[in-house]
Amino acid sequence: MVPSTKLAFIDLQTQQKLIYPNLMARLAQVLSHGQYIMGPEIKELEERLAAYVGVKEVITCSSGTDALLMPLLAWGVGPGDAVFTTPFTFIATAEVIQLLGATPVFVDIEPRTFNLDPEALAKALATFGDNPRTASLRPRGVMPVDLFGQPADYERINPLAQQHGLFVLEDAAQAFGATYQGRKAGALAEVAATSFFPAKPLGGYGDGGAIFTDNVELAQVLRSIRVHGQGSQKYENVRIGVNGRLDTLQAAILLAKLDIFDRENKARQEVAQRYSEALAEVVEVPYVAPGCTSVWAQYSVLSPDRAAWRQRLADAGVPTAVYYPRPLHLQTAFAHLGYQAGDFPVSERVSQEIFSLPMHPYLSRTDQEEIIRIFHG
Ligand SMILES: Cc1ncc(COP(=O)(O)O)c(C=O)c1O
Repeated sequence: MVPSTKLAFIDLQTQQKLIYPNLMARLAQVLSHGQYIMGPEIKELEERLAAYVGVKEVITCSSGTDALLMPLLAWGVGPGDAVFTTPFTFIATAEVIQLLGATPVFVDIEPRTFNLDPEALAKALATFGDNPRTASLRPRGVMPVDLFGQPADYERINPLAQQHGLFVLEDAAQAFGATYQGRKAGALAEVAATSFFPAKPLGGYGDGGAIFTDNVELAQVLRSIRVHGQGSQKYENVRIGVNGRLDTLQAAILLAKLDIFDRENKARQEVAQRYSEALAEVVEVPYVAPGCTSVWAQYSVLSPDRAAWRQRLADAGVPTAVYYPRPLHLQTAFAHLGYQAGDFPVSERVSQEIFSLPMHPYLSRTDQEEIIRIFHG
């Protein structure tokens, strides 16, 4: 039987109905004051986000990609610099490194969390000078990704980076609302970036992002970079930057969504728990490391029979998705780096077996039971 309602992979309509009056009031307020660029909602959102995540400074910006790019610009990352990251992520993580002329150095992932493997990172650092791929480069930083909403292992990554004098830029694009050892994603490295892409746990109605840090001086530089490297005067430019501001309208939308975010996060936990209890015998269900919570940007399972499962679900009207079918070291865009199939076996296997199920706070029990029944059918 096809589930009773048309099943959404991510349902933004139900959420919209819930927040509609608040949303409309907030949008009307922006239309009334007319400060579409850097209006008061930007400051309000930045203060609310800083309090929520537990950091001193939040710099909202135009996308998660810009939230990753701007700290790299602030640190002067460029040609000759190596930045370690995972090949099992959305392209933006490594793209920003390449965009600045620096070199992404990929490090394989842990098989259960799908996050950067600290042991592999330690090995890559130890062999850096002997490896012909990296010998001529200068190690500058690490960009771990909190994939699918679960933080990477910062307790092991941060000290390693510190030992080698590297920055750590947390890619928390998928993890706003997750926790690690009691601290929020966004506060787990010296600088973090998140995305407000509509499908993200906290998503706007368009592109948006934010940078989080306790470094007040760096925050000043980031605010300058956000507006073309502006100095203390409007047409004084002290560095090269970008047009990286978040729209006031998006800030207003995000403020309305932030009001219900914790409730939604709780509902996500319940959906994930029901899936995991019911599916553990048929597929490999997600592993959440001790001391961590995931915000379940995606609920992703593994099976060597992925194609058959996806077909069976599609036949019953259940949408699924594959994040990510090809690791970055095998993408044409990074072919110049010279990696080959077999270089990162965990990422490669996971990319062959992984698929994601409908996950959002408004997935009804009935619909979820239908999805589960299809697996057991
Ligand atoms: C891991 C990761 N990094 C970076 C980004 C880039 O964010 P945005 O799409 O807002 O530019 C995304 C989002 O798609 C992501 O999932």
